[in-house]
Amino acid sequence: MIGRKQSYHGISLGALAVGGHKARRDPFRDNLMEVRHAMPCDSYRGQGQDESDEGYVTRLIDDMEAQIRNAGEDRVAGVIIEPIVGAALGCMPPVSGYLQAVRDLCDRYDLLLIFDEIMCGMGRSGTYYHAWQHENVAPDILLTGKGMAAGHFPISGMLINREIYHVMESVGGFNHGQTFENYPLACAAALAVLNIIDEQKLLKNTSEMGELLMKRLKAEILPLPHVGHVRGGGLFLGLEFVKDKLLKESFGAADEISLSIARLGLDEFNIQFYPCGRSNGKDGDYLIIAPAFNIDEDHVEIIVSRLKALLTAFFSDFKAIR
Ligand SMILES: Cc1ncc(COP(=O)(O)O)c(C=O)c1O
Repeated sequence: MIGRKQSYHGISLGALAVGGHKARRDPFRDNLMEVRHAMPCDSYRGQGQDESDEGYVTRLIDDMEAQIRNAGEDRVAGVIIEPIVGAALGCMPPVSGYLQAVRDLCDRYDLLLIFDEIMCGMGRSGTYYHAWQHENVAPDILLTGKGMAAGHFPISGMLINREIYHVMESVGGFNHGQTFENYPLACAAALAVLNIIDEQKLLKNTSEMGELLMKRLKAEILPLPHVGHVRGGGLFLGLEFVKDKLLKESFGAADEISLSIARLGLDEFNIQFYPCGRSNGKDGDYLIIAPAFNIDEDHVEIIVSRLKALLTAFFSDFKAIR
């Protein structure tokens, strides 16, 4: 398999191996199968200041192709990526043209393309159910979970195309089972959630409220000291904190910036954000903002004003401590 650095696909040994989250992989390093990890598509830290999207995509695809060739193209089965990287890169969307270029590369080498949309899918990225639909680049296998039943019930799924289905069928199906697979209650919860999303036109809302939230974050939060970047799509938005905005220098790991901000948010500002980062073992203090699909304009303002007060309070105290 070819995965990417700074990505996460789960804790089972196979999923952990294809992921490129250094801190989470390290304790299990000796037990993981061989996987090559290509460079992530990170427009904030990876793309040169004067580099075009096209030039950056070419550079990333060259790197991915080198990983395939180094592994030996006959030995590689597929490529797995998160179209919008969640916890490992703080809601980093792909630059325009990247997903199509990965698709083309997979087609050229006859590799399966797997999109992990466990975090970014099921409407979270706005407008469509699947994040790949923004670029109209379909995978061969789609992994979905989390938002599938809006978190009210555990359910996840793997969607495969017809070709894979027929191959599986020709070998007698998948000779494994799990205790809770095809669990009717979970499926009923997912169906209910999908119906509500359709009936209440929540995909439209995730897109409209996402645009508004992004606009308000750019106006109110991005100018604050130590907020280096705001990114994402729909209601799947991320902030990256830096010590120095110009140099994009990260805080030290011991400062536990994101975690401390998230704790303060819960303790004193009555708001919850998801802290994450340092997936390459050194950079990245991220906070994910992922509100419910049915928020309205007032909620957007509550999020922005509390976040602003939280960050202002946190960084003024943080400076005083140092
Ligand atoms: C993108 C992504 N893929 C896969 C997983 C793993 O899902 P699970 O923990 O349900 O196995 C997660 C989160 O845990 C995730 O964020």
